[in-house]
Amino acid sequence: MNLVAFNSSPRDNQTSKTELILQKFLEGARQAGAVTETLYLREYRIKYCLGCFGCWLQNKGRCVQEDDMTGELFGHFLEADLAVLATPLYHFNMNARMKSFIERTLPMMEPAFTDQGEGVHHPFRMAKVPRIAVLSVCAFPTDYNFQALSLNMRMLFGHNLVAEIYRHSSEFLHIPPLQPQVEEVLAAVVQAGSEVVRYHQVSPETMNALTRDLAPRETLIQMANQFWREEIEKEEGHSPPAVDDDLVDKYV
Ligand SMILES: Cc1cc2nc3c(=O)[nH]c(=O)nc-3n(C[C@H](O)[C@H](O)[C@H](O)COP(=O)(O)O)c2cc1C
Repeated sequence: MNLVAFNSSPRDNQTSKTELILQKFLEGARQAGAVTETLYLREYRIKYCLGCFGCWLQNKGRCVQEDDMTGELFGHFLEADLAVLATPLYHFNMNARMKSFIERTLPMMEPAFTDQGEGVHHPFRMAKVPRIAVLSVCAFPTDYNFQALSLNMRMLFGHNLVAEIYRHSSEFLHIPPLQPQVEEVLAAVVQAGSEVVRYHQVSPETMNALTRDLAPRETLIQMANQFWREEIEKEEGHSPPAVDDDLVDKYV
């Protein structure tokens, strides 16, 4: 199985919790025999969809824009047996970079409406489209946060969506006293990667271990509020971090 992961976190790999969970998932996938590759969307130029339908009318399956999405990423996506869409949760949904990426996959659809019972969809143009696994992390300590993302992904990918890996309390994963619980979670993520490759689904036992609480919710809320109070105190009188304007220019 050729597995390609697309990570849309803007953070570096040492800081990103999406990356932490994603790499554990891929470790399990490799143990089950998959060949894996990770592409970091922050390193690519992905323009916004223009809404011109040139990919349906003139170019028939290819976007009219020449950028890294047309030139490289879309091809990698289509060639994958399983594409892992890995995004940090921003405002209860995928982040904007992942949304841009997904909107630019419109060329894989046909300009037709088909009634699929619950909803009307576009059929796929390509005979082979990848199975999809979505993976996300969020800071708040509940699964409740992922509802909008989950609904969005199920509506987008339907039967092609084989797994949803959602890890809440992401910013607590590096806290030393919580490591026994974290180790259990990370082992479950490895197991999930292996199960998705072997069975195209995650077992309820693995999902329970993967989503377990790291501590009582009230404790995590107190820890978070104390953390932010201390960070604000530490930053008194300091300037905000420098912004790399080249990086900003690249995406707008
Ligand atoms: C703009 C922005 C919006 C966010 N929105 C949410 C949110 O809706 N719910 C939540 O629990 N965490 C939210 N977070 C926290 C991130 O999901 C969390 O820090 C996560 O670990 C980021 O992933 P990364 O480390 O891979 O970048 C938000 C963070 C940012 C910067």
